[in-house]
Amino acid sequence: MIPLRRATDAGALELASEHGKIAAPRRGTITWKLDAATFTPAQLAAAAAAWRARAAQEYHSLALFTQLSGQLHQLVSPLDWAGAFARMIADEVRHTDIALRMTELCGGTPADVDPAALHLPVTGKTLRAHVRATVIAAFCIGETLSGRMFRRCLRAATVPVAKGAVRAIVDDETFHGRLGWELGALLMRGDGSAACRRERDVLAGQLPEIFAHYRDMCGARRGEAWATAQREADGAPNFGTLTDAGYACAFWQGMREDVVPGLVAIGLPEASAAFAAIGGVTPSRVAAAPRRARGS
Ligand SMILES: [Fe+2]
Ligand SMILES: [Fe+2]
Repeated sequence: MIPLRRATDAGALELASEHGKIAAPRRGTITWKLDAATFTPAQLAAAAAAWRARAAQEYHSLALFTQLSGQLHQLVSPLDWAGAFARMIADEVRHTDIALRMTELCGGTPADVDPAALHLPVTGKTLRAHVRATVIAAFCIGETLSGRMFRRCLRAATVPVAKGAVRAIVDDETFHGRLGWELGALLMRGDGSAACRRERDVLAGQLPEIFAHYRDMCGARRGEAWATAQREADGAPNFGTLTDAGYACAFWQGMREDVVPGLVAIGLPEASAAFAAIGGVTPSRVAAAPRRARGS
């Protein structure tokens, strides 16, 4: 494991000032101030741990988007894909930077990264199949859920610097989710060949495994009924985080309301059965059950 560093240890280089421009929020500013004396050590430690984990996740997104961008070049995708990915890569640089700064501000140690875990081998039979599966997983599912979670974190945040940090991330993640659905829909159109249809079938068959991966990553194994019955977030001071149940709830609702219908619409009707296979509750069953009102 290697600790993530925000800056090169060589004084003020031009690369640092260029990085600073990318790392600044796309709108507004974050006031990087925290009066640590107004919080208990336990509150600061919990906040540092949450943002530390977030920094590692954002760095993984950065590595994945960068790799995917190169693979799209190999497929000679239209140039607007390159432009959109350049923006998203910059966004993930920003998110990693923000999460590292929040960790520092709360007194935490830098996030560690396992370089071996960043190596993402081509798993499909062809690069095209791999890219399609990665976009479906990382964007249509991952970024869609991420946008939902960060919108909930924004509502929960009470500490001003944390609210500013989450707001900067939310703006980007919401865009990433939208773009992911455009990319997913375009990739699912395919080229009409039998090989492309076979690749689609393989991907459809992988959906239960992909859904289960995200369910476990979101700590949602205990199911939606459990998650919905718990408190979504701790009250003040809140550093832009949810409870475990809050993240789980965002997963189940995001899957049911956005991901599954979206995948069905772009040509993966198998998504409904895959959702049921991992414990997902169908819309009709949800409508019949009394539950707390929730937003995104
Ligand atoms: Fe991100
Ligand atoms: Fe993202």
